[in-house]
Amino acid sequence: MPHKALKPGEITTDVPLGQDATLGFIGHVETPWKRLQDCPKRAPLDGPDSTVVLTPPWDRALEGIERFDHLDLFLWFHRARRDLLVIDPSHGGGLRGVFALRSPVRPNPVAVTTVALVARQGNRLIVRGLEALDGTPLIDIKPGRCPNA
Ligand SMILES: C[S@@+](CC[C@H](N)C(=O)[O-])C[C@H]1O[C@@H](n2cnc3c(N)ncnc32)[C@H](O)[C@@H]1O
Repeated sequence: MPHKALKPGEITTDVPLGQDATLGFIGHVETPWKRLQDCPKRAPLDGPDSTVVLTPPWDRALEGIERFDHLDLFLWFHRARRDLLVIDPSHGGGLRGVFALRSPVRPNPVAVTTVALVARQGNRLIVRGLEALDGTPLIDIKPGRCPNA
């Protein structure tokens, strides 16, 4: 997919990224957001349900997760461009380096989102508070707040 045209002052690089961390996807998310422009910037924890789908055998690693009411999801924002250094964000404020923003645009497009865990259904977690595009790959899950128990 071609990139959007750059805005005045925005800076890219054509220097290739160095070492390869060899991440593996462990699943994906199913969300109401079918187009990037429909995704909220930050989804409320009482927003619509989304589903985190673990690909076997990684679903075995969910054991005990029901004890938590919040989870941190680590996602790979696969549709984000990776060559920008300085951008002019749509929410205003002028030019900023990508490390001074939570923009999806960054050299390694890892997103971190805290979601509310509603239920577990086998290899599927029903969650709220996800602003990712439908089909976004999942790279990790960590418990958020303290267990209820
Ligand atoms: C502002 S980011 C915040 C993400 C996360 N909460 C964080 O702080 O890392 C959310 C935006 O990323 C974009 N986005 C969502 N899923 C994406 C994907 N799979 N690839 C690229 N961009 C995506 C959408 O425009 C969405 O509004």
